[in-house]
Amino acid sequence: MGTYAISGSASGIGAAARTRLEEAGHRVIGIDLRDAEVIGDLSDAAGREQAVVQTLERCDHRLDGLVTAAGLGPPQPGASIARVNYFGSQALLAGLRPALAATGDAQVVQIGSNSSTTTPNLANDLIDAFLDGDEDRTVELIAETPEPFDAAIAYGGAKLAISRWCRRAAVHDDWIGAGITLNVLAPGPVRTPLLRAGEDDENFGPLLERFPIPTGGPTTAALMAEWIVFLLSPAARFACGSVIFVDGGADAMIRPDAWPASFEL
Ligand code: NAI
Repeated sequence: MGTYAISGSASGIGAAARTRLEEAGHRVIGIDLRDAEVIGDLSDAAGREQAVVQTLERCDHRLDGLVTAAGLGPPQPGASIARVNYFGSQALLAGLRPALAATGDAQVVQIGSNSSTTTPNLANDLIDAFLDGDEDRTVELIAETPEPFDAAIAYGGAKLAISRWCRRAAVHDDWIGAGITLNVLAPGPVRTPLLRAGEDDENFGPLLERFPIPTGGPTTAALMAEWIVFLLSPAARFACGSVIFVDGGADAMIRPDAWPASFEL
């Protein structure tokens, strides 16, 4: 049986993934602000360092997998969303990579979102600031969008950067060269406290109500956990740098021809 680290394990999708893995007999090291083996605040450098050090100690420097699910959504402030969702997750990926490499066939599921492709006007310089690891510049660029909609730009931007980083890094020696697969699961709306906070907000509630979900309403965290467990299973080892949309058809409906796309030689 394997040992898996899950950030955001105390609630929603992370908690459901934890339950599902434990039911299958695996050991889970949860990382969260509360109710977890490793208590750490992924919004700042000290908390991230603490989370990495304690996770490495608990897993004895060997991990079979990592799920980066900790996150905030609108209406939380844009800067906090960027710090937790992108930079917090990146710190775990970087800090835990040696433990993932130690097992030789580890698998990582990064939780993205279909907001990466359905949020309009995500500027390339913002995505580049994320990918450059420039947290101050990222927060500055997000602040150019007036509140409260800076939160939507931060959320979609962080998820697009997560996806792009995954596609770039997955095929490199540091990751697949060490036997580690990296993939992104990009959900659409899932019934969790994060979604509820958006629905209850006077600015974001009406937008979420209008967001298309061709299959019907939002799905459950338990369903997402099934996808996570599959992406951590041997059957998923041929997936490397994949961004898997499980979003009820929203991305297909909003931008049917955007991808897959060919390229020009
Ligand atoms: P949730 O609010 O139920 O769970 C998020 C967890 O992250 C909580 O346990 C929270 O304590 C933890 N967290 C927040 N800030 C943290 C910090 N500074 N340090 C450590 N842990 C922190 O939310 P949900 O919906 O389960 O979200 C999980 C992931 O799924 C997020 O990355 C979210 O962006 C993503 N997602 C969620 C969707 C939804 O509709 N619920 C849709 C698409 C993606």
